[in-house]
Amino acid sequence: MKFGIQLHGDRGALYDAVADAALPPGDRDALRRALPALRALESAPAGTRLVWAAAASGEYPVFLGDGLIEAGFFHPPDGRRLVVTDENVARAQAVGGDARIVTLPGEEHKSIHTAEFVLRELAEAGAERGDLVVAVGGGVVGDLAGFCAAIYQRGMRHVQVPTSLVAQVDSAYGGKTGVDLPEGKNYAGVYHQPAAVICDPAALETLPPEELAAGYAEVVKTALIAGGPLWARVRQGGDVDADVILGCIRTKLAVVAEDERDSGRRQVLNLGHTVAHAIEAATGYTRYRHGEAVAVGLLVALRLSGREALRAEVAELLAGHGLPQSISGTGTDEVIALVGRDKKRSGGRVPFVLVEAPGQVTPGHDVAAADLRAAIDEVSSA
Ligand SMILES: NC(=O)c1ccc[n+]([C@@H]2O[C@H](COP(=O)([O-])OP(=O)(O)OC[C@H]3O[C@@H](n4cnc5c(N)ncnc54)[C@H](O)[C@@H]3O)[C@@H](O)[C@H]2O)c1
Repeated sequence: MKFGIQLHGDRGALYDAVADAALPPGDRDALRRALPALRALESAPAGTRLVWAAAASGEYPVFLGDGLIEAGFFHPPDGRRLVVTDENVARAQAVGGDARIVTLPGEEHKSIHTAEFVLRELAEAGAERGDLVVAVGGGVVGDLAGFCAAIYQRGMRHVQVPTSLVAQVDSAYGGKTGVDLPEGKNYAGVYHQPAAVICDPAALETLPPEELAAGYAEVVKTALIAGGPLWARVRQGGDVDADVILGCIRTKLAVVAEDERDSGRRQVLNLGHTVAHAIEAATGYTRYRHGEAVAVGLLVALRLSGREALRAEVAELLAGHGLPQSISGTGTDEVIALVGRDKKRSGGRVPFVLVEAPGQVTPGHDVAAADLRAAIDEVSSA
């Protein structure tokens, strides 16, 4: 009898959670596979939501809720937890685990050298393939730790605990992991889906304001891709709340579910990023935060799309959050040269993501060299 009541309780929680779970349609077995995560919700702070992420190579739960970190919530329950974090996050957030590997913060440390350091620390800690790498931090830690998890002993599981806005709305989901090379950003990496993502918006309370602003650029990018209610909410301006984060998560997961490996639809997530990556590389990854470069990249993409009114609206939103409208410290020629080395180039041609309207964003466009030069000139104050 007790079991029956418990089962009923489980189902109650399950039905609540399913409202936020995107289970694959027609997949009758998905509920069974999601059950451990749905049960884990019972130990999560009230109000925590579960989003089920599905991609070709794997599926995983995303938990979104205020206070998850402080409550010590974790999933999955098995395996030792080898936390990878950076010095800033280690100071600001409780990052308990069976071992802790602390890296230096900053994009310049998303490198092969840091990956070697993390891999050797994992070996030193006696990590086994059944253990979990737990990435607690922003996109740098997430990409780096996910990469190390993917290649350590040919692959172990990882859990993403995103603590920056960029990571909470974008980088923690979808399984792209990697490091930069001096020749280009994210030049070495693999796809490796996480075993779970634990997203706690309360972690953003310790994030420096300029990092919060940088994350806002990814929010605007995601809202442009989504269109509909998310764009309607974001275009009102104002702070990013848990509902906006949830909208971004769903948008990204829907894109990845359709195309995990960037063969088509996923390329829309690159909106603004072709030029952003070139700006970051041209300025040595130190002058601009990733999100700041994305802000400028979005303005270039909207200019190339010929959407003047939308460009003006986006410029206002970005400026309202303290994001740059132009760049210095590099020049048009340098940025164009680096655009030409974009990872997405194929047969010598670099495809651009363009915007017809919010919700109508498409990849694979050719852009005339003169138009690209004019659009980059416009944002270059050097
Ligand atoms: N894998 C993907 O799909 C994907 C998508 C978008 C971006 N990215 C990558 O993400 C990276 C950028 O991520 P980011 O903007 O989070 O940078 P980041 O990881 O460098 O974090 C920004 C800064 O905030 C600090 N920080 C993070 N959380 C904090 C907290 N809660 N309290 C105090 N300080 C905190 C970090 O130490 C760092 O100094 C880039 O390398 C980019 O390529 C990856």
